[in-house]
Amino acid sequence: MDMSISRRQLSLAALVAMATSAAPSLAVAAPSLAYAFSGKLLFGFAVTPEQLDGGLATELIERHSSVLVAENAMKPDALAGKGEGIYDFATADRVVAFAAARGIKVRGHTLLWHRQMPEWFFRDGAEEVNRATLISRIERYIADVVGHFKGRVFAWDVVNEALVADEPGTAVDAAGLRLSPLRDIVGPEFIEIAFRAAARADPGALLFYNDYETQNPRKVALISALVRHLRERGVKIDGIGHQAHCSMAHPMVHDFERAIDQYGALGLIQHITELDIALNQQLMENLVSAATPALLQRQSQRYADLVNLFLRKRDKVHALLVWGLSDANSWLTSWPMPRFEAPLLFDAQLQPKPAFEAVLRAARQAR
Ligand code: G3I
Repeated sequence: MDMSISRRQLSLAALVAMATSAAPSLAVAAPSLAYAFSGKLLFGFAVTPEQLDGGLATELIERHSSVLVAENAMKPDALAGKGEGIYDFATADRVVAFAAARGIKVRGHTLLWHRQMPEWFFRDGAEEVNRATLISRIERYIADVVGHFKGRVFAWDVVNEALVADEPGTAVDAAGLRLSPLRDIVGPEFIEIAFRAAARADPGALLFYNDYETQNPRKVALISALVRHLRERGVKIDGIGHQAHCSMAHPMVHDFERAIDQYGALGLIQHITELDIALNQQLMENLVSAATPALLQRQSQRYADLVNLFLRKRDKVHALLVWGLSDANSWLTSWPMPRFEAPLLFDAQLQPKPAFEAVLRAARQAR
């Protein structure tokens, strides 16, 4: 794994930035996380294209990242919203070019998901699409998209969130597969079809199954069974993506540790793909309304505990991505309802939080 760091991430750049800008320079002056993680884990963020157009956000992303993922710009609705075979790669290409110009790797997220798929995918005029047509659409979409980014996206989330464990409100089949147009029209084989198409389109890319609650023992069992099934059928799958959307209390570090070891025993590499730590434990009552110093301190300890685990397991875990740059733009402030949240490493003014310091310390101290 190439985790070399270019000179832009060394502290000279920070000193220059401090000397030349009166604007909030603290964040830019902070030591590079990518540098602190180099030789240990790839490190980076989910980004939006607007964050790459200059300004402090751009500086932070280029300074602190050795890997990036587009938060939405590489999803099917973004790339192929207009119809079959009609692609809009311009925005995603900008993200990839930004990364390439700075020696930053790109994860591709995501080829198939039950959300953010364009409507045309599942329609044939007024009718629902038939199985054969949907399979050919899946194969064509993946061939075109993975082919387009071949050699520039080093790892793909091929299938996202197809398995469900312990979610009473979610429709699921007897094998634990989420009921969705993909599953209902194609059948469980949609996963195999997707992985085969991705492997054909870029044999050099690492192919991942990505999901949340990957530490839940029942989810571990479902994902492990899927991996064994794919392998028995000669299908290439390289890794598991742990979304790792956490709160202050959940999940427990030791549950994550057990799961990482179990996936590791299958010979899978692992990426932490969407780490964030919500201040709210649950959403029904006692919602947090501000990030008090005490809460931020507890959050930083929680980041340290999790990141220390990922670093300790770095024979199995190769990359760590935080789902968003700053508290100004986290999905958690709008889902499942609008609320105050502050789950990331930089605050809404793009200044480093105690969590940033904790992650930096963990990366530097890992031996
Ligand atoms: O692009 C439209 C825009 O045209 C419109 O004006 C605007 C008004 O609502 O919506 C925009 O789309 C939004 C999109 O983000 C882009 O900003 C959608 O409403 C919004 O639902 C969508 O949310 C994204 C969510 O996935 C969708 O499922 C979040 O930003 C993104 O962080 C989130 O990411 C997912 C991962 O892909 C998979 N794992 C869970 C994670 C968090 O939900």
